[in-house]
Parts: sequence; C-alpha cells; structure tokens
Amino acid sequence: MHLSVIGSGYVGTTIAACFADLGHHVVNVDIDQDIVGSINDGTAPIHEDGLQNLIEKHAGETGTGRLRATTNYDAILDTEVTFLCLPTPQNDDGSIDLSIMEAGASQLGATLAGKDDWHTVVVKSTVIPGSTEDAITPILEAESGKSAGEAFGVGMNPEFLREGSAVQDFRNPDKVVLGADDDRALADMADVFNPLVANADAPVIETNTRTAEMIKYANNGFLAAKVSLINDIGNICKEFDIDAYEVADAIGLDDRISEQFLRSGIGWGGSCFPKDTAAIRAAARQQDYEPLMLDAATEVNDRQPDRLLSLMDDHVDVHDERVAVLGLAFKPGTDDIRNSRAIPVIKGLQKRGADIVAYDPVATENMRERFPDVSYASSPATALDGSTAALVVTDWPEITALDDEFDSMATPVVIDGRRAIDRRDGIVYEGLTW
Ligand code: UGA
Repeated sequence: MHLSVIGSGYVGTTIAACFADLGHHVVNVDIDQDIVGSINDGTAPIHEDGLQNLIEKHAGETGTGRLRATTNYDAILDTEVTFLCLPTPQNDDGSIDLSIMEAGASQLGATLAGKDDWHTVVVKSTVIPGSTEDAITPILEAESGKSAGEAFGVGMNPEFLREGSAVQDFRNPDKVVLGADDDRALADMADVFNPLVANADAPVIETNTRTAEMIKYANNGFLAAKVSLINDIGNICKEFDIDAYEVADAIGLDDRISEQFLRSGIGWGGSCFPKDTAAIRAAARQQDYEPLMLDAATEVNDRQPDRLLSLMDDHVDVHDERVAVLGLAFKPGTDDIRNSRAIPVIKGLQKRGADIVAYDPVATENMRERFPDVSYASSPATALDGSTAALVVTDWPEITALDDEFDSMATPVVIDGRRAIDRRDGIVYEGLTW
C-alpha cells in the first residue's frame, strides 16, 4: 500500500521505517528540513535501536526506495492512508495541548480537498478520548469540504512502542488496536497491518475511536501506577530493612501480578507516562471525577528523587563538594531526557550547592542544553574521580559494570536509584528500596 506519515519524531520516524520494511511504500512528511534531509540520506534522525538499519535499507540512494521524506504535504495525495504522528504537548495544568495536531489536521484537510478518491486518516498520537471524533474529524471536514464516512475515513491506532526498543516492539506487538467510526476506514487500517499481524500472530482489537484512545491511556496509566505501587511498597520495605527486589520476585510469580514493571527505584520518566497520566487526570477532572489512584501514582513518583537525595544527606553534606550523577537519560537505550529523574536530582543537588559532574553515554548534549552550568564527564570513572557522593539514576550497562572505579572517590558514598551497582565492599552503599 501507499502510506503517508505526518511527523518525524520518535513514533513517526519509527513507524514509517517499519511500514516500509513490511513492504509498504511510505512517505514521511515533516516541516523540519534537516530531519527530512537526514532520512533521505539514509540516516536515522534519532537514536533508536535498529532504526538506522531500516532507514539505510529503505531510504537513501542505495535503499529499496520504499521510504522517503518530504516537507511537501502534496505527497499525501499519492497515498491511500495517512498516519498523524504529531506531538501532543502539555498545557501548564497538565492537560493535553492539541494545537499541533489541529494544525496538522487542518493542513491535511486542505490537501485532501484536492483528492477525488477515498482516503483514510489515522490518528496515531496519544489523544484524550473524543479528540479524533470531536476535534480532528470536524477540522478535516471543514478544510477538505468533504464528509467523513463518505469521501474519507478516520481512524485511531494507538502505539505501544517503548523508546529504545520501538522497532522490536513494532515487530512483536502484544496487540494491535484499530479504532474507527466507519467500516471502510477500519478495513484500510486492517490492510495496513495485515502483513504484520500475519507475521507476529498478534491479536487485533477492532473498536471505535474513543475506546481506542482510552485503551492507550489505560495501558500507560496502569503501568505507571504499577511502578508507583512497587515504589510505594519498596519505600516501606526500605524502612523495615527488607529487600524490595526479593519481595517483587516473589509476588511477580503470581500471574495476576506478573514479573514485569516491578523494578522499584527512582521512578518513571520519559515523554509518555508523565504526560499521559497528567493528561488523563486533567481530562477526568474536567468531567468532575477525582482520579485518586493516578494522582497518588504521580505523587509517589514525584517523591522518589527526594528520597534518593535524603539518603545521600544521611551520609554526607555535599555543599561545595563534587557529586557524580550517573545516567541522564530517562532509561537506558535512549538519549531522551524528557522528565528524566536526573532533572529533579540535579536540581536538588544545585539547591544543596554541590559541584555536579554528570555522565551519560548518549544523553549528555541534551542535558547540557537544559543545565549548561553542570560539568559533563566523558566516562563514569572521570565523574567518580574525587567525588564525595555518586547518585545512580540510569542503569546503562557502562554504569552497572562499575566496580573498582568507586575507589577513586573522595568518600565512596553510592546511592543507587536503579539497583544498578553490585559492589558492596569498601563503599557506603544505599539502595533506594533495598
Ligand atoms: C511507555 C510504554 O511502555 C509504551 O508501551 C508506550 O507506547 C510508550 O510509553 C508511549 O506512550 O509512547 P516508554 O516511556 O518508552 O514506553 O518507557 P518504559 O520502558 O515503559 O519506561 C517508562 C519509565 O518507567 C522509565 O523511566 C523506566 O525507567 C520506568 N520503569 C519501568 C521503572 O522505574 N520500573 C520498571 O519496572 C519499569
């Protein structure tokens, strides 16, 4: 099939490359000339495992020609289905800001005014229930001068891709959710995913757009709350001198709980859990419902970095002292620092007047933009050298491998937010929940 993907962020670029790999012909539309140029040169514009291979394979001079990028919306006219993968940032009150999606829908609608054949538009971005039906569809109708369900169809297909393993997750989905408010759009979406579903043997859930939208928030809300629940329990474990990981291993054996997402520590970050829980909480409040569980999940999460810092305070006063922050990305495998727990940790250290030396294998430049006054080390060993304390924020392999490097610290106080460090002898070691 001929597909267009509007937006070349983490999701748009990944699905465009993965769709091309499934055999579709894909054009990725973005306003950023640099990103478009990079894809057309066969170079991945973001750090995502496996993406470079796919882009090299399908775009660029030596590629299959099944993937290209452009800044021109007219490229959509030669495609049958368009996926809208634009950002959905947060307003100050945590609620979703749909303006970029609305602007994209408006441009897409105006483009579709020039198309005679049927076209299906699929919302891929995470949007509050009702957004596709009540906001995006009316814009497409107004701008195209056509009616949804007659000249074009609209669907909603949430993504469940984790940053760092997005290509892998695309190829091995635990489910494919297809939401549509008309049968023809649903059939088009099913055609797009057929090659994947046949390969991966994934269950397909066919539903309406509102339910598809809610499934995404329910999925992320549940997982965020699960991590916060194990963090809550982990904090209690710590108070009683119990290892939360031993407890998690045992309860994870219960099928009703499952062993995944039971790693307690400094909490969740990234662009998804924080933003999505905030958006659905704000949307619930707009409906006069108090989302107590999701509120609590957020509060537990917000407190974990403070707990890490206060464990450090129990051992050393870091005013004017060198402190190593190990790991800046919100999790290993990505250069994304959005809502990384490293941010409140750095702020807390700045408040204490510490001399911060941070290390991350790939996220340093992103963090430097945010905190230009912090020093950035080229290796964890350099960061540790002469430090009074080390705070472990991200469990990158080069951080979990640390051992003798702690010997060069001025005082070897190691506070671990991710159960990353094995060394115990000869250092003062504190785990956040163990
Ligand atoms: C998450 C979901 O897992 C994806 O299914 C979803 O598609 C994506 O959001 C999205 O909405 O786009 P992602 O944010 O990339 O994916 O990362 P996760 O691997 O889910 O981790 C989220 C955070 O939870 C990380 O900060 C991680 O360190 C933390 N976490 C996760 C824990 O603290 N403990 C755990 O046991 C698991």
